[in-house]
Order: sequence, then structure tokens, then C-alpha cells
Amino acid sequence: MNVGVIGAGYVGLTISAVFAKWGHDVYCVEKEDEKVEDLKAGRIPIYEPGLEEWIKESLEKGKLVFTTDLAEAVKACHLLFIAVGTPEGPNGEPNLDFIEQIINELVPLITQPKIIVTKSTVPIGTNEWIKNKLIHAGVRSQFITVVSNPEFLREGTAIHDMCQPDKIIIGTDQVEAVEQLKELYQEINAPYLITSLAGAEMIKYTANSFLAMKISFINEIARICDAYQVDVTEVAKGIGMDPRIGSSFLQAGLGYGGSCFPKDVKALEYAAKQKEITPHLLQATQLINEEQLSLYCQKLRKSLTNFPDVSIAVWGATFKPNTDDIRNSQAVKLINLLTRKGCRVHVYDPVASISIQEVTVHSSIYESIKGRDGLVIATEWEMFHTVDWTLISKWMKGKVVLDCRNVIDPLLLKEHGFEYVGVGRP
Ligand code: UDX
Repeated sequence: MNVGVIGAGYVGLTISAVFAKWGHDVYCVEKEDEKVEDLKAGRIPIYEPGLEEWIKESLEKGKLVFTTDLAEAVKACHLLFIAVGTPEGPNGEPNLDFIEQIINELVPLITQPKIIVTKSTVPIGTNEWIKNKLIHAGVRSQFITVVSNPEFLREGTAIHDMCQPDKIIIGTDQVEAVEQLKELYQEINAPYLITSLAGAEMIKYTANSFLAMKISFINEIARICDAYQVDVTEVAKGIGMDPRIGSSFLQAGLGYGGSCFPKDVKALEYAAKQKEITPHLLQATQLINEEQLSLYCQKLRKSLTNFPDVSIAVWGATFKPNTDDIRNSQAVKLINLLTRKGCRVHVYDPVASISIQEVTVHSSIYESIKGRDGLVIATEWEMFHTVDWTLISKWMKGKVVLDCRNVIDPLLLKEHGFEYVGVGRP
């Protein structure tokens, strides 16, 4: 099938790479000339395991084309995916400028029947609005089918998540659109849920908000565990064995970040308030997440007598491991908070390129700890499990390790003479 993908961000690039790998002919449209030139040369602007190889392979086979020409993609493809960003606007309302721009550009180009599939996370009612906007602008209604097909891929495991999803959500009342998407996705073995446009939009926001709520819930439990000297990792394991609860997204720590959870919980809160509903749980979810930063900061203050006149190494700056993304990163927020308090902060991250005022960034993990009073693990990169603690113990001045992700074995650190500090880990 010929497939058009509008937007070469995280979702756009991943779905383009996967569609092309499955043998479809993909036209990925991106506005920025320079980005398109890079993509044509196989250089991708994000760090995502496996993605560059898949893109290069499809470019060589001629299955994937990057272009700035929307008209070329519209002419060639019956299926057009919209995968542009919907960044957070004021009051948490998503900004739909990019979507609106694309719709305006599509108006003169749709002269034959097209299926427009929205992958971007959009507020409830947006897909209906897209359909009406196109029709009011003069596109013949029989030429337009609008479908909501939200994407649930995670950064760091994007290809795997796209190829092995646990469900495919399709919002539409058009049987032909469902058939076309099923043909496109024939490599996937997952159940389908066919719902309304608004139903699909709501499912996406609800899924992300529920997962964020699960994280805030376990973080609240971790605080209580801390007070009663109970290990929260065991509590999470224990409750996770109940299939009604499930074991995922119960890792207590510094809290959630990234380009989706913070934005989507706020957007759903905004949507509720628009209808005069007070979304108590969504508000509590966000409050707990914000408070995690000061909670860990206080832990450090208690452990380091000279705080804030201390020199601290922070490992990890990305919002989670296996990505170079620092958008809405709790780690970066903690780094900023410690710097504002007056600590001298030294950062090491294996992938992210960061520059923060008054913060020293190291390219060597061992250089980052030399002479430091304390070490903070802010993002759980795999490599932090294989470091040489004997060397670190020798080179650090102080002996405090604040594990903000509950990933290091407290006994191992104790053996090396460290004081292990976590939340909910006695
Ligand atoms: C998320 C959704 O999982 C995905 O379905 C959606 O399409 C986009 O948003 P992503 O933002 O890539 O994906 O990251 P995810 O792995 O979900 O983690 C989000 C944040 O929650 C990270 O900051 C992570 O560190 C944190 N987290 C996750 C926890 O603190 N504890 C957990 O148990 C799980």
C-alpha cells in the first residue's frame, strides 16, 4: 500500500520506518528542509534503538521517501497519517496549530477519496472538527474519511511497541477505513477495538493518565513505606501479582516525565474542567509527581550535613533510560532544584547532550564522581548497574548515594561503605 505520513517526529518516524519495513511504500512529509536532507542521508534527529538501521534499509530499498512536498504524498497515497505534535498550551490546553496548518494545506490537495488517520494525541472532538473543517473549506464530503488511530509506543522501545502492540484502537464509523487499516497492519497480531472518533481520543488520554496515576500512587505508597520501614519494591511486586492490578508502572521513584504523561494528564484535567468537572485524581496525580522533587531534595539535605554547600554528582538526565529526550525530565528538574539551592552539581548522562547554567557536564562517569560529597541516581540507565563501586568509593569524598529510582542494591552499596538513601527502601 502507499502510505503518507505527515510529520517526522518520534511517532511519524517510527511508523514510517515500520510501514516501510512491512513492505509498504511510504512518503514521510516534513516541513523543515534541513531535517529532510538529513533524513534522506539516513541521519535521524533522535536516539531510538534500531530506528536508524530500519530507516537506512528502507531508504536503500526505495520503500521510504522523505519529502517537503505534501502534494506529492497526497497524490500518491489513499491513506494519510497525521503525526504532528500537539504541544502543551497555556492552562494545559493542547496547542493544535500544527494540525490546523496541515488541514489548511490539505484542502486544495484532496481531489479524490482519502482516509485521514490521526495518530497525534488530540483533545476529544478534534477529529470531528477536522472532518467538518475540511468540508466547510470546500472538500467534497465523499472524499473524506477521518479516523482516529492513537499510537501507544514508548520512547526507547518504539519499534517493538509498534510491531507488538497489545491492541489497535480505531475510531471511525466507516467500514472501508477499518478494512484498509487491517490490511496495513496485517503483520500485527493484536485485538482490534473499533469505536467512535471521540471514543478513540478518550482512550488515549485515559490510558496515559491511568499509567501516570499508577506511578503517583506507588510514589505515595513509597512515602508511607518509608515511614514504616517497609520495602516498597516488595510491596509493588506483591500487589503486581494480582492481575487486576498488574505489575507494570509500579516502579517508585522521582516521578514521571517526558513528552506525553505530563502533557496528557494536564490536557485531560483541562477537558474535565471545560465541562465543570473537578478531576480530583488527575490533580492529585500531578501534585504527587511535583512533590517527588522536594522529597528527594530533603532526603539529600538530611544525609549531607553541609547541604547545600556540597558538591554532588547526578547520573542520568533523560526522562527515562534508552532515550536522549530531556523534555519534562524529572532528572533535569532535580538538577535545577539542587543548583538553585546552591549545590555544586556535576552531571553525567550516557546519551543526552545537556547544557545547564552553573552545572558541570562530564563525558566520563568516573570523572563525574571524583571528590564529590554525594551521588544521585536520577535516571536508571542499565550501565549504572555495572560500575566499579570500589573505584567510586575510593574517588568520592563523601559516601552518600541517593537512589531516586530504587534500582541499586542497598546491600551492595553498604558492602562498599556507602550510605544508601532511597524512598521506601529501609
Ligand atoms: C508513554 C506511554 O507509555 C506510551 O504508551 C505513550 O504512547 C507515550 O507516553 P513514554 O513517555 O515514552 O511513553 O515513556 P514511559 O515508558 O511510559 O515512561 C513515562 C515516565 O514514567 C518516565 O519518566 C518513567 O521514568 C516514568 N515511570 C514509568 C516511572 O516513574 N515508574 C514506572 O513504573 C514507569
